[in-house]
Amino acid sequence: MAERAPRNLLSHFWTPLTAVGSHGPAGPNAQICVSVFGASIVPERPRLLVNLSKTNYTTQLVQASGTLAVTLLSEQQVDLLAPLGLRSGRDGQKLDGLEVALTAAGDPWFPEGVGLIDCRVIEQYDLGDAVAFLCAVREQQPSGIPGVEALTWAHARAVVGEEFLSQWAAKSEREQHAASTAMRWTP
Ligand SMILES: Cc1cc2nc3c(=O)[nH]c(=O)nc-3n(C[C@H](O)[C@H](O)[C@H](O)COP(=O)(O)O)c2cc1C
Repeated sequence: MAERAPRNLLSHFWTPLTAVGSHGPAGPNAQICVSVFGASIVPERPRLLVNLSKTNYTTQLVQASGTLAVTLLSEQQVDLLAPLGLRSGRDGQKLDGLEVALTAAGDPWFPEGVGLIDCRVIEQYDLGDAVAFLCAVREQQPSGIPGVEALTWAHARAVVGEEFLSQWAAKSEREQHAASTAMRWTP
């Protein structure tokens, strides 16, 4: 029988890939996020919990504006991972050249996805290294594209290519170092 590689159980708790967008005086910005969770059992009061690292420019924008847009990305949008997930809006306009739309609040979203979830922040929680935003869902807009599939990391990892993976590994190492010194933790 073929041996299966040991799996990290916690990888089951990464959500499908999303782009989380917000805006500020310098314009809109967005980042990739795999930490967006349903947080309501009341259908007429839908909420999401969105966890964003403090090192990200998008986090600052969400804190200042109180709004964010979640695009549930599709398998057709794998090319957004490098511009949105490897670069920071602090270093320049990273939405230039991308197909992007804006919500009424001015938050960017990406139309070829599974859909848009437009959110307002209710409150935020300091995790040390990150901020958890409890959000009220103001609007859900499925793209309606026939046969569209949500993009998982398992799928993305298989198609992004070696250059992306090595840049992501180097960035992750830096982020993990910063997080380990700032995060709330108990031994
Ligand atoms: C596959 C992937 C998953 C990611 N998941 C998260 C996440 O769950 N939370 C987070 O804060 N950053 C996550 N990131 C990192 C941000 O997208 C990245 O740091 C981005 O460059 C931040 O951009 P900004 O500074 O313009 O906000 C992820 C990146 C990738 C490529």
